Formats: sequence, structure tokens, C-alpha cells
Amino acid sequence: MQNNVVLYEQKGNMAYVTINRPEALNALNGRVLKSLNSVLDLIRETDEISTVIIKGAGNKAFVAGADIKEMSGMNCMEARAFSKLGQEVFNKIEKLPKAVIAAVNGFALGGGCELAMACDIRIATKKSKFALPELGLGVIPGFAGTQRMPRLVGKGRAKEMMFTSKQVGAEEAYRIGLVNEVVDEENFLNYCDEMAKTIGTRSKAAIAICKSSVNEGMELDIDKAMLHEADLFGLCFSTEDQREGMGAFIEKRKPIFK
Ligand code: CAA
Repeated sequence: MQNNVVLYEQKGNMAYVTINRPEALNALNGRVLKSLNSVLDLIRETDEISTVIIKGAGNKAFVAGADIKEMSGMNCMEARAFSKLGQEVFNKIEKLPKAVIAAVNGFALGGGCELAMACDIRIATKKSKFALPELGLGVIPGFAGTQRMPRLVGKGRAKEMMFTSKQVGAEEAYRIGLVNEVVDEENFLNYCDEMAKTIGTRSKAAIAICKSSVNEGMELDIDKAMLHEADLFGLCFSTEDQREGMGAFIEKRKPIFK
């Protein structure tokens, strides 16, 4: 599928999504969010896909936030609906039964940082910058940044980032656990591809079940979360992949997951 503001390509078991408004540093307007929503539906329905890489077009920004020009004329109800739309699309990423890598190739500000945080793994180039600058615009993060940032880096650091709007460079983002890895620009896309390929050798069913165990379990108390994990562990034993994975080990060969 190819449309103007979000590009989509599938190569084997990998899907590539590009936010494509380089002239506005890939700012998220309603049209981008709706296109992204449709692309995510397509990805969810495509069983073959195990890993998704999301990046921004151009070499300056991943995404520089929600579109300030579009938001500037909104009334309270429109702003609330815009926030709900962004939250819904990003939740779809978080709940997608596939591994999602944010390939952060530049600015990840406001809604862009929130998009990256909804992904499972964040890889950044050395020049990438992260921030939640919304308070400087007289608003708050509205695509779940007030919720996902403290869960990733802790309440104190999250509030500091929000209250000061400070831009955090890639190395600092790595230090505080906001990104998984920082890679040279030359090796960046290759690195993301290699990680996606490695994930692609794992059981797709187990990826989906593991993701839901981590995500749902993190929102439960530890006893309930462990019970949930045991239920999902049991569920794995209803899959062909469990028989293939364990069978392959016993037969001393590599598993072939369908
Ligand atoms: N919305 C709309 N347009 C944006 C944008 C945004 N978030 N970010 C950049 N652009 C546009 C600029 O307006 C400019 O367009 P024009 O050429 O038509 O003027 C173009 O992209 C290039 O940007 P700059 O000229 O500003 O480039 P720069 O290199 O001087 O600065 C920047 C880069 C520091 C990222 C700067 O563009 C910037 O600060 N952008 C806004 C970042 C921001 O505040 N993001 C948070 C938005 S609020 C939000 O996201 C709310 C939420 O949680 C839902």
C-alpha cells in the first residue's frame, strides 16, 4: 500500500512503515494518524509479518510532534478527539501481535517521542533528540506521553523532561533507558534490519504471546501478572510452534516456524 503521508512496504516477514511529511519534519496531523491506523490494521491482518520497523522520511526527523499548525485552531472537544485518536493509534501499535521497532533517525519530539515510546524497541542514531516540549506550547503531552514516559524512565525523570521541555540527546536517552541502542548513521538502517531479521527467526505466535504477557502483566500486581504469565505459557502449548521448537531441539536441528 502506498499513500502520500504514510508509506508501507512488506518484504517477507518484515514490514516497513515510513511517516512521510519531511517538509513538516513528519509532524502528525489527523491525516497521518488515520493513514497510520489503516496501515496498522493491514499489518495486524497479515500473518506472515513478524516485525515492523517505523521510521521518519528524510534525514532530519523521526517525527517532530503532533502538527502544531493543525492543533492551533482546535477547540476543547476537537483537541480531546485528536488526543483520543493519537492514543488509539499508538495503543494499536502497543497491542499489535508483532514486534515493533522505532528507527529514530533524528528529532523525536512530543507526539514523535510518544510514537517511539508506543513501540517495543527504540533504536536511535547518534544525532537523535528526544523531548516532550508540550508545556512550552501551553498544553500537555496528549498521545499518552504522560503515561508511557514515567513507565519507561521513572516519574522523576519523566516530570523533569516535561516540566523543562529539555531535549535529551541519544546517549543520554540510552543512559536513562529511553532507547535500547545508539548506532552510527551509516550502520543505522542495517542494524535495525538485522535486529528485525533475528526476531523474524523466532516463533511469531510466541512473539505475540510474549508481548502481551509483558505489556498486560506490567499493569497488574505481581501475583496476578505471574498467573497471567502461567496462563499464557500454557497457551503456547496449544501452538504448532511449541511442538516444532521443542521437537527441533530434541532432534538437534534448527526449528522451522511457519
Ligand atoms: N508541527 C507542525 N509543523 C512542524 C512541526 C510540528 N510539530 N515541527 C516542525 N514543523 C515544520 C516547521 O513549521 C517548518 O515548516 P515551514 O518551513 O513551513 O515553516 C518545517 O517543519 C521545518 O521546521 P523548522 O524550520 O522549525 O526546522 P528547524 O531545524 O529550525 O527546527 C525543530 C527543528 C527544533 C524540530 C522545530 O521544528 C520544532 O521545535 N518543532 C516543534 C517541536 C514540538 O514542539 N513538538 C511538539 C508538538 S505538540 C505535541 O506533540 C502534542 C501531543 O503530544 C499530542
